[in-house]
Amino acid sequence: RLEKAWLTIGVSMLAVFLLVLGVMTFGRGIAPPNEHIHHIDPTKVSETPPFDKPQLTKIGDNLYKAVMVAYAFGYDPQEQMEIPAGATVHFEITSSDVVHGFEIPGTNVNVMVTPGEVSHVSHTFDKPGEYLILCNEYCGIAHEMMKTTLVVK
Ligand code: CUA
Repeated sequence: RLEKAWLTIGVSMLAVFLLVLGVMTFGRGIAPPNEHIHHIDPTKVSETPPFDKPQLTKIGDNLYKAVMVAYAFGYDPQEQMEIPAGATVHFEITSSDVVHGFEIPGTNVNVMVTPGEVSHVSHTFDKPGEYLILCNEYCGIAHEMMKTTLVVK
């Protein structure tokens, strides 16, 4: 009878182990929305979420996520992004062609955007105003033109 009890315990533990393993594998397969993605196929940026829809989204109280794609010579989303003063923005940026820069003068935001990789940077915009987002890596003939604006109201 004791042997039977041990066998039951053994089988139960195996079942729990398999369940945990299954949950872990499943969890990795579908990454939760806030999980950071660090690598991407640069030739499939436009079809890889979240970069298939570059946009600014509100993800919490005074908290925003800006999914952006840098390309020669601009940034997606192309429409102007607007946030309230005091908001924190998590930027997730990748490139669909060559190496670009992502700098917001007057802030700590200054990252390199490399095809195949996703750059992460956050900033809290306390002061209202128009913040210029610009490319500071030479990326071709219209490099100087590569910029967009973030409006803090
Ligand atoms: Cu992109 Cu310079």
